[in-house]
Amino acid sequence: MIVSPSILSADFLNLQSEIEAFNQLENISFHLDIMDGHYVPNLTFGKTVIKNLSKVTHHALDAHLMVRNPEAYIEDLSDIGLNNFTFHWEATTHHDSLIAELKKRYPSVGISLNPGTPESSIPSYLLEKIDLILIMSVNPGFGGQKFIDYSFEKIKYFTKLKQDLGLNFDIQVDGGVTDKNAKELRAAGATNLVAGSYIFGADKKEYSSRVESLR
Ligand code: DX5
Ligand code: ZN
Repeated sequence: MIVSPSILSADFLNLQSEIEAFNQLENISFHLDIMDGHYVPNLTFGKTVIKNLSKVTHHALDAHLMVRNPEAYIEDLSDIGLNNFTFHWEATTHHDSLIAELKKRYPSVGISLNPGTPESSIPSYLLEKIDLILIMSVNPGFGGQKFIDYSFEKIKYFTKLKQDLGLNFDIQVDGGVTDKNAKELRAAGATNLVAGSYIFGADKKEYSSRVESLR
């Protein structure tokens, strides 16, 4: 199980030491929530912060773009060491060409679905092309919200499709993930758990035990 600490909930005045607190752990990817203040009613960080952050960690960097017009970021974010680029299904009409352009530049490409977007929206011929499905289990924009229970059905839907089609994409769950639901999320087929407030809400010396408790 990959655990992806969402730095949205980290202490931004001490980002370097927040990141370094995970140095000794394995199977970590840092989840980077890029918000534009339009697609979601919040604004976060961009290229400059991520570039600096990449200098102080060996862990993978996973960008989750909650932006309108994700096409505008394809080139701009391609030289800062991102391992994964996830865009929102609802934010573009040109899914096929966006995936193709991202594939040329990023090792992994993901699609995110808002809670209100049906899981059946994504056709199997596009699932074949991607590396990760991000199930939003809260409405995007903010950390610290309550997990939406029907997300389990979506996870199970993609788990079954993976088996039926013989595909190998990751199933990432983002929003309201804690030690209370992690076990059930894994049982449903989640392979990557994002957690912001659950991890960073603890004292720094507890971060690693929070990660382990999610596993
Ligand atoms: C919400 C973000 C999440 C957020 C999760 O829009 O996509 O990554 O940081 O935070 P928690 O784990 O606190 O729900
Ligand atoms: Zn996110």
